[in-house]
Amino acid sequence: MAVRLFEDKEHANLYWKYRISPSEELIEKVLQFHRSNKNSANDLAVDVGCGSGQGTLLLAPHFTRVVGTDISPAQLEMGRKHVNVSNISYRESPAEELPFEDGSVDLVTTMSAFHWFDSSRFLQEAHRVLKPHGCLAILNYTMNMELSYGDCSETLNHICKEVGIITVAFLTFQCLSAV
Ligand SMILES: C[S@@+](CC[C@H](N)C(=O)[O-])C[C@H]1O[C@@H](n2cnc3c(N)ncnc32)[C@H](O)[C@@H]1O
Repeated sequence: MAVRLFEDKEHANLYWKYRISPSEELIEKVLQFHRSNKNSANDLAVDVGCGSGQGTLLLAPHFTRVVGTDISPAQLEMGRKHVNVSNISYRESPAEELPFEDGSVDLVTTMSAFHWFDSSRFLQEAHRVLKPHGCLAILNYTMNMELSYGDCSETLNHICKEVGIITVAFLTFQCLSAV
């Protein structure tokens, strides 16, 4: 199971110590894309598979509320301890069952974690929780993987291949369903 690696407290401690944060430039690109939709809002961002919160932290200045979710209690414990900012909270949950209402989230990010998830169940969940003009940003070191989501699969894979060179893929479900 993917999560085993991160279950151990010692591993989570080392992860916190040595994990390099995603760059601010990368997050800025995500935010630019998010803002480019004139109906976008900045109420709630959710960082799925947030680990010890290094990437989650970068979202905090831009949203009223940021929630980091992860399946590993040990990782979340590190986040709560070290990335303790007033508008960030943490929830233990699998990426495939997000603890949010339908249509309630403005931005879903997942940073270096997507490859651990059941990708089609996660994409379904992200679609469910996002507001109609919400944005999903998948940030990974490699997008060398096949994505499958209803009749958007071809477009999704095209976007990933095209944007993969800068190791980031942005997907808005609104755009995708309009394609
Ligand atoms: C490589 S770490 C990335 C952590 C963080 N996003 C970062 O950029 O530092 C992957 C994280 O995904 C979490 N994870 C793995 N499978 C998961 C799942 N099915 N649902 C939620 N989190 C999961 C792990 O516990 C781990 O914290």
